[in-house]
Amino acid sequence: MFEHLFPRERFQRFYKFLEEKGFENPSPFSKGTTSLIFKGKMHEENVIIKLARPDSPRYNLSREAEIIKVLEGRGITPALIEYGTFEGLDYLIRRFAPGEPILYADVEKQHLIEIVKKTALLDALGIDHGQIQGGKHIIIGKGVWIIDFEKAGFRKPKNLTSAIAMLFLNDNSISKRIITKFGLNSDFLSLIMEAAEEYKRSRNVEGILSLISSL
Ligand SMILES: Nc1ncnc2c1ncn2[C@@H]1O[C@H](COP(=O)(O)OP(=O)(O)OP(=O)(O)O)[C@@H](O)[C@H]1O
Ligand SMILES: [Mg+2]
Repeated sequence: MFEHLFPRERFQRFYKFLEEKGFENPSPFSKGTTSLIFKGKMHEENVIIKLARPDSPRYNLSREAEIIKVLEGRGITPALIEYGTFEGLDYLIRRFAPGEPILYADVEKQHLIEIVKKTALLDALGIDHGQIQGGKHIIIGKGVWIIDFEKAGFRKPKNLTSAIAMLFLNDNSISKRIITKFGLNSDFLSLIMEAAEEYKRSRNVEGILSLISSL
């Protein structure tokens, strides 16, 4: 999967490095624009290691590590296990989020409620994820996890309003699926748009939650 980026000898050194820290059975899992993801087990838990791609210009994962630490224990993003470097490449080891990106997932009402609560909590903490709308970073499984905080920062947060746009208001494959699945009409969409405007003014999430709860 990553052979063209990682010559065999370097791979072997990397796997040995992982083995020495107790990261068992590493296997290539996914390739992002800035990182390579390997899945494995550590202390009986499913984990991933996100390693900066050797071909991305000195990519620094320290900010992502810092933000994940602030979110520790809040149920928004899987816990950080370790942050370090391997042969000059930054890496993060964290718990695995079971599920699939919302871009492809079958979204239940309970997921919508969890997305609202978790993005509102991020807003309240003053952290803007920055890439909510793409649909690649919300993992839908039994629960909901938000991953990839590389573009996140302490700035005016727009997480919940971005999520509402992605889920209901923008023209994309996620909203199309949700509109069809829940049989949403233009009245509902106007109401959710108004509730999002109200949330922007008051930071009160109740209007949005009660609309979604009525589905
Ligand atoms: N903690 C996790 N649990 C489960 N899957 C994960 C986790 N972290 C990353 N992944 C998977 O690896 C992919 C890439 O991870 P991530 O988005 O953090 O990397 P990236 O290099 O920033 O990618 P992108 O270019 O898509 O932003 C994700 O889309 C997801 O499928
Ligand atoms: Mg990314």
